[in-house]
Amino acid sequence: MDKLVIDGGISLNGEIRIAGAKNSALPILAATLLTDDTVTIRNLPHLYDITTMLELLGCMGVEPVVDEKMNVEVNTSTIRDFNAPYDLVKTMRASILVLGPLLAHHGKADVALPGGCAIGSRPVNLHITALEKMGADIRVEDGYIKAKMEGRLKGAHIFMDVSTVTGTENVLMAATLADGQTIIENAAREPEVVDLAECLIAMGAEIRGHGTDTIIVEGKEKLHGCSHAVMPDRIETGTYLIAAAATRGRIKLKDTRPDILEAVLSKLEEAGADIRVGEDWIELDMHGKRPRAVSLRTAPYPAFPTDMQAQFTAMNAVASGSGSITETVFENRFMHVHEMIRMGASMEVQGNTVLVTGVPELKGAPVMATDLRASASLIIAALVAKNQTVVDRIYHIDRGYECIEEKMQLLGARIRRLPG
Ligand code: UD1
Repeated sequence: MDKLVIDGGISLNGEIRIAGAKNSALPILAATLLTDDTVTIRNLPHLYDITTMLELLGCMGVEPVVDEKMNVEVNTSTIRDFNAPYDLVKTMRASILVLGPLLAHHGKADVALPGGCAIGSRPVNLHITALEKMGADIRVEDGYIKAKMEGRLKGAHIFMDVSTVTGTENVLMAATLADGQTIIENAAREPEVVDLAECLIAMGAEIRGHGTDTIIVEGKEKLHGCSHAVMPDRIETGTYLIAAAATRGRIKLKDTRPDILEAVLSKLEEAGADIRVGEDWIELDMHGKRPRAVSLRTAPYPAFPTDMQAQFTAMNAVASGSGSITETVFENRFMHVHEMIRMGASMEVQGNTVLVTGVPELKGAPVMATDLRASASLIIAALVAKNQTVVDRIYHIDRGYECIEEKMQLLGARIRRLPG
């Protein structure tokens, strides 16, 4: 297993480009299953999760064509198998996103049931009940969700008990080909849902209200091909900004979108960062100062994103003062805390809150990445630590961060990969 070796103590400084959003590219790749025409997706990030989704399409008989610029052309008319096997689903829970499109376009889908994961039990019950409400016959047996439908799904009025991102996306995709109108209430408002809706509209879908908590879809008999550029990754953007703030640095991020990062930018300003933005860039300057600890609470968009919680915990670890971080979206998302304590951080978990008192410095130690965003937070902790840190199990980070060591090196970090 590869490891990352990081010699900390350097302020990040420089300019990098932000990749396409993983959480937008994954549902958009699944949406290609809604048409027999070719869909061209541009600005696809170069990530392990994307490779897994392409592999999943591949094992169904679809052959996506990827060019050297990571544009991909997908034509799913060659599909022969409607099955998402456990071997792929267990490495990437977002495989569940093929359920809605397969059922809507082909009337059949067998998708392995995603199990628990490092950050909690993460059920998919809301995906299933919504599709059942649209007329699908769904059984959960032998570890699989086995779904079928004679004819078209039926438009329905769906209320999501909990705001779920992939749940909203699955129902939204299914509704584009349903017979009649579907209303999704308490829909997720995340920008990635909006990006998916815009791609579906380019494919001929009729959707309104995306970006609000009520999405209305008028089902169509057929969708067609399109060309769509994936939006910038707001979580990658936020991660580099926090890394720069924690290391008292100065960076400029290009090809990103400040308008979808308001909650994160305002916390960084509270931490003492000087932030300037343009339409597609963000600059952060700490003027060499130590950040101030901040308190925050995660919640669905537009509130503070759970996917940025661990990185702020790392910044608080070396900030002045103390801050409390409360996680309300997932039940077990503090695995990084125990690793940071091993690096000398002063942190205490109380229920779904971690209380952090900043210390003047962390000390390098061997640590273990446990999930995607926890890995990013350990890299930030390592960048500010004295001496060397070795981060083990970094396959987690390769799932969601494009070329992280190259980008960090461009910003001056002393980081290298140790092949395992
Ligand atoms: C997506 C993101 C992930 C992010 C998360 C929350 C993708 C591929 N992943 O994950 O990076 O951390 O949103 O912003 O986009 N829930 C249920 N029943 C369901 C579905 C969800 O109870 O059927 C609960 C979950 O347990 C969790 C909450 O809803 O407590 C939100 O989860 P959800 O938005 O579904 O997360 P994902 O879509 O899996």
